[in-house]
Amino acid sequence: MKPSGSLRLGVNVDHVATVRNARGGVHPDPVRAALLAAEAGADGITAHLREDRRHISDADIEALMRDLKVPLNLEMAATEEMLAIALKHRPHAVCLVPEKREERTTEGGLDAAGGHNYLAPFVRQLSGAGIRVSLFIESDPRQLDAAKSMGAPVVELHTGSYCEAAPGAPRDTLLKRIQTAAAHAERIGLECHAGHGLSYDTVGPIAAIKTLAELNIGHFLVGEAIFSGFADSIRRMRETMDAARSE
Ligand code: PXP
Repeated sequence: MKPSGSLRLGVNVDHVATVRNARGGVHPDPVRAALLAAEAGADGITAHLREDRRHISDADIEALMRDLKVPLNLEMAATEEMLAIALKHRPHAVCLVPEKREERTTEGGLDAAGGHNYLAPFVRQLSGAGIRVSLFIESDPRQLDAAKSMGAPVVELHTGSYCEAAPGAPRDTLLKRIQTAAAHAERIGLECHAGHGLSYDTVGPIAAIKTLAELNIGHFLVGEAIFSGFADSIRRMRETMDAARSE
């Protein structure tokens, strides 16, 4: 872990497993990638165990829990099946995400405000087991307030729309929304993270938000690994984040 005040990088290894599963074998191994990521400067590893197991498998989670020396952030839907898995493994952190079978990736944030009564028992049980719970939400003060009211200590702001927006005014508007939400999180006493879709081009303005504690990045880093290697892509992302943070 870096000293407090600095920005942690969580590397998501889901898409190493996507490539592995394309052939149904054991290569490339997401656990090996996670160990390499930690050596290259990742402060933690993130893995999303989806209901349909399209990338990360139950065995991957077991191996990550066994072999990792850095914290594991388990992303999962708020379901009874996933809750039982989380309580069995007790990872450092769980990030609750919305999940639809037909989506290609996590498409929006959790409706923490509308789903308060459903989600609150998950937050309570996970927290009771000593797991740091975060809710993956849109940059909407109502959602942040709902996360706070159900006792989640952390929120992760969805940066997908910001990353997909055209550079210039459309992206700047969405950046402003993320900046405002991060400031609101600090005001109400939530640790604030961000992630989804971040690349070398889009990470700078997000990393510059001083109240963010952690970014979770996966798809871009795994894609870049084809061109420059996984360790190199992580080191370059780390440098880009640190440079933006120190401005
Ligand atoms: N954070 C959360 C909550 C996610 O669901 C994902 C995607 O699994 C990420 C971060 C990472 O997004 P990407 O793979 O686009 O970097």
